[in-house]
Amino acid sequence: MHTDAERTLADTLESHGQGHVLRYADSLSPADHKAFHAQLASIDLPLVSRLVKGGAEAKVDYAAARPAPYVALGSPVGAARAHGEALLRAGKVAVFTVAGGQGTRLGWKGPKGTFPATVVTGKPLFRVFAEQIAAAEKRYGRSLPWYIMTSPLNSADTRAFFRDNNWFGRNPADTFLFEQGTMPSITFDGKLILETPASLALNPDGHGGAIRALHASGALEDMQARGVEHMSYFQVDNPMVRIADPVFLGLHASGDGSSGEMSSKMVAKRDAAEKVGVFCEVDGKTVVIEYSDMPPELTNSLDAQGKLRFNAGSIAIHAISVAFMQRLTQGDFALPFHRAKKKVPYWCDNQRKTVEPAEPNAIKFEAFVFDALGIAGKSLVMETSRTEEFAPLKNATGEDSPAWSHQIQSNRNGDWLEKFGVKIPRKPNGDVDARIEIAAETALEPDDLADIALPREIKSGEEVLL
Ligand code: UTP
Repeated sequence: MHTDAERTLADTLESHGQGHVLRYADSLSPADHKAFHAQLASIDLPLVSRLVKGGAEAKVDYAAARPAPYVALGSPVGAARAHGEALLRAGKVAVFTVAGGQGTRLGWKGPKGTFPATVVTGKPLFRVFAEQIAAAEKRYGRSLPWYIMTSPLNSADTRAFFRDNNWFGRNPADTFLFEQGTMPSITFDGKLILETPASLALNPDGHGGAIRALHASGALEDMQARGVEHMSYFQVDNPMVRIADPVFLGLHASGDGSSGEMSSKMVAKRDAAEKVGVFCEVDGKTVVIEYSDMPPELTNSLDAQGKLRFNAGSIAIHAISVAFMQRLTQGDFALPFHRAKKKVPYWCDNQRKTVEPAEPNAIKFEAFVFDALGIAGKSLVMETSRTEEFAPLKNATGEDSPAWSHQIQSNRNGDWLEKFGVKIPRKPNGDVDARIEIAAETALEPDDLADIALPREIKSGEEVLL
């Protein structure tokens, strides 16, 4: 028996060339049938059809791209720190972490925020951030509400992790977990994919899904009710992020060369080949162009001194105003989608089971939060040092792996200690030859070490926890 709604859905699927997903529909249990119907009904089929045809995707006028201006490392920042600290003391800042990704490259079974990240104690990422937030709350005498975007694929596990860890000792009312949306993955010839006979293969709709989800979840409203004006935004996989950096927040909100809507931090690219998005200026707007979208002649172009012209690498750290997010979520605004070839598990009719493909077999559509930059007014970019703030956990081995991140953590902590006269062992390439961890409670920034009893020397290979 089919209801009218089911018949209409079947017709709509057919008219979008997606009728094949119902091939098992008649053999499903009533419960599976109902759940599958609800899932299918939630898919925006016209959008999928537009994406299959190549519409609704990000388009950039590369020919018009210029390097974006930025506040270079070491530039005078005037009253920015005092301004940022005043915002923090007045409770006008919230923390926003995007943690809805699938972390497939790292290969960790579980939300990435539960990954052991620190170099000596192996603290999970969520604890690293929670401790930093708690230390900042103590310093500024105000709570820093923490908003965390999860996805339907990891929200239950994330919530359980926070509960099991007693919300890391912070007030549970100051942590707000919410889910982002999903998009269906499609085959290379534009077909929806069954993951099981009763479910489609869906993927989280990218960190750009944050904009819709902030609104839909009530997070923006909650921020407004608390008097929050700005968010300190970062990704879950960077244990070195300086959360709610007062200098950055101050520059962002100062009104001086910044609309205060959306600002960004950058690091100088290691070399032309490094796979990071680059801050560019197109038609007077600051934008990020993904490395995969950047034409090689721009990627490799050098200035008169022989340095990379497009050297401002994006590290996905932003300051974003609540008012800007509210402006974007009024009406039917949507960020464009980017397509990526990925390995997506699918239901194999012959083997009658879900199969993990060895090679990419599908396209995932994701929105990127930095595409909102092009809609913001004057947007500020501030340079920071890679060693200070960027050691992401992306891959299981090699670049951006746990071992790689650990080395950067030790390097940063070694630099901080050296500033106070501690003798630090170094390898020939300058890397610190010891494992050094500094808890946020001990120091949020190097000058906090001034009042701490420090060792005179760290020995080669030593493990040190401060
Ligand atoms: P990545 O682009 O590194 O993706 O996300 P990922 O899903 O974590 O990892 P891979 O590509 O599968 O290996 C960068 C940041 O954006 C968040 C991630 O949680 C991470 O903090 N993100 C990504 C979301 O919150 N939602 C998404 O849909 C995608």
